Amino acid sequence: MERTFIMIKPDGVQRGLVGDVIGRFERKGFTLVGMKLMAVSRELAEKHYDVHKDKPFFGGLVDFITSSPVVAMVWEGDSVVASARTLIGATNPISSAPGTIRGDFGITIGRNLIHGSDAVETAQREIALWFHEAELASWAPATKDWLYE
Ligand code: RTP
Ligand code: MG
Repeated sequence: MERTFIMIKPDGVQRGLVGDVIGRFERKGFTLVGMKLMAVSRELAEKHYDVHKDKPFFGGLVDFITSSPVVAMVWEGDSVVASARTLIGATNPISSAPGTIRGDFGITIGRNLIHGSDAVETAQREIALWFHEAELASWAPATKDWLYE
């Protein structure tokens, strides 16, 4: 079983899309193992997006992520890292496929609603950055045998 880090960004929270986004992951069959609504410090935002620190959009991205609360989550399931990226859609919502979260709800790259880890190793780093071990619950959903062969 894999785990991935998912964050509903400030625009998703402000626009009242938290329930819609969580519902898509639940309906897919993934298991929620950690979740918190939180204000993000500059330090945490900068660490999270460290890979982009030399990009021209870095300052604006950190300003945006710290501007209003986010919902940080950890989801679990088979191949959840790649599958979550598919559910989320391409980075720029104007060209994200319909049916994806960004494709259905967004228009511009700077307001693309949601973050998802881009690889298994990235997911491990991000989960450790955003959550204490005690904030994560390991549990077996009753639906497991109806989701997995
Ligand atoms: P994320 O990390 O947020 O899940 O998004 P992603 O992998 O699809 O895209 P990434 O290349 O990692 O970019 C991180 C976030 O930076 C903002 N961005 N702005 N103005 C721009 O050209 C630009 N490019 C990227 C987006 O919010 C993107 O999600
Ligand atoms: Mg990324």
